[in-house]
Amino acid sequence: MSILLSPYQKNGLSLSNRMVMAPMTRNRAIGSIPNALMAEYYGQRATAGLIVTEGTSPAPEGLGYQRIPGIFTKEQVEGWKLVTDKVHANGGKIFVQLMHTGRVSHQDNLPAGAQVVGPSTIGMSGQIHTLNGAFNYSTPVALSAEAIKQTIKQHAIAAELAMEAGFDGVELHGAHGYLIEQFLNPHVNNRTDVYGGNHINRSRFAIETAIATIAAIGKERTAIRISPFSTLNDMHAYEEAEVDATYQYLVRELSKLELTYLHISRNPMTTPERLKFFRETFKGTIIVCNGFDAASAEQLLEEGTADLIGFGKPFLANADLPQRFAHQAPLNPVDFKTMYGNSAVGYTDYPLMNEMPQPQQ
Ligand SMILES: Cc1cc2nc3c(=O)[nH]c(=O)nc-3n(C[C@H](O)[C@H](O)[C@H](O)COP(=O)(O)O)c2cc1C
Repeated sequence: MSILLSPYQKNGLSLSNRMVMAPMTRNRAIGSIPNALMAEYYGQRATAGLIVTEGTSPAPEGLGYQRIPGIFTKEQVEGWKLVTDKVHANGGKIFVQLMHTGRVSHQDNLPAGAQVVGPSTIGMSGQIHTLNGAFNYSTPVALSAEAIKQTIKQHAIAAELAMEAGFDGVELHGAHGYLIEQFLNPHVNNRTDVYGGNHINRSRFAIETAIATIAAIGKERTAIRISPFSTLNDMHAYEEAEVDATYQYLVRELSKLELTYLHISRNPMTTPERLKFFRETFKGTIIVCNGFDAASAEQLLEEGTADLIGFGKPFLANADLPQRFAHQAPLNPVDFKTMYGNSAVGYTDYPLMNEMPQPQQ
C-alpha cells in the first residue's frame, strides 16, 4: 500500500492523498486577474491532495512579473472564485501562495503608482522581462517602518480576501528570494532598525506577517514556504552557521504560532540532519518539495521526515499525476518553451493518461 496515495489528516487539514501540487508561476493572469483558463488548469489537477497556487501578490507593489495574479481587488477575488469553485467541484483542496516579489521586479511591470520595494536599496543583478523588452531589475526603495506595517497588513487583508474567494488556506512565500526571504538574507537586508542586523531581527518580518495572517484567518489556514541555503533570485550565500541559526530560530517561532504546515523547498544543503531538525521542531505538517519521483517520495514518507511531498514540473505536465503513479504509467515530458507562455498551449493541453497512444501489441 502506497503511503503517498493514502489520505492525510492533521489539525483540520484533510487531504485525499499526500501529493501536493507545488506553487508554479505560469503568467496566464492577464491584467493580474485570474480567469476561466486558469480555472480549467487548476480544475484538471484537483486529484492532488492539495494544490498550492502560483505566487499571487497581496499588493500592487508585489506584482513584479508580467501577468502574475494578485489578490487585493474585487475583480481578482471574483477571478479566483472561478478557480476555487472548479477545484472544489472536482473534489480537491487549494491554498493560495501569497508572493510579494519585492526587489525581484521592474517598475514597468507594476501598476501605475506602485514602486519597487525591498528591505533596503540593494538591487538585484541580472535582467527581467517587461512588456518593453528585457531590462535590469529596478533598484528598490527601502520600506520605511510605517510601510513595513502596511505591507504586513496587506498580507492579512489578502488572506481575508482569499477566504472570500473560497480558498482552503494561504501559504506565505518565504522562499526563493522574494520579499520575506529578502528580509532574512543579510546581503540583501542591511537595515539598522528592528528588522535587520541579526537573525532575530531579520526574521521579524516573516514572523509578524505570519502573526497577522493568523489573526485574519486562523492558524489552521496559515502556512509558509521556506528555502534555506537557496541562492535563487540573487540570494547571496552567507555563512553556513548563520543560515542555520536563522532558520532554526524562524522555524521554532513558526512552530509556536502553530501554523498548519511548513513547506520546505529543498536543495543539496537540505541534509537529513537539517530535515530532522525541522521535523522535530515544527509541530504541524511538513511538506518537502523539489526533484521527487514516486519512489523517492514514498521513501521520504516512510522515513517519516515529511508528511506530504510537493511535485512541481511533474504536475505541470501531468494533470492526472496521482492516477499515473497509481498505475505506474509513464509521464509526459515538460515543455519548457510554454512554461511562462500566455495561452492554453503547454498549459491545459497536456494529454491525460487515458488519451496517450497505446503501445502496439
Ligand atoms: C514554471 C515554474 C514556476 C514556479 N513558480 C513558483 C512560484 O510561484 N512559487 C514557488 O514557491 N515556487 C515556484 N516554483 C518552484 C516549484 O514550486 C518547485 O519548487 C520546483 O519546480 C521544484 O520541484 P519539481 O522538481 O517537482 O519541479 C516554480 C517552478 C516552475 C517549474
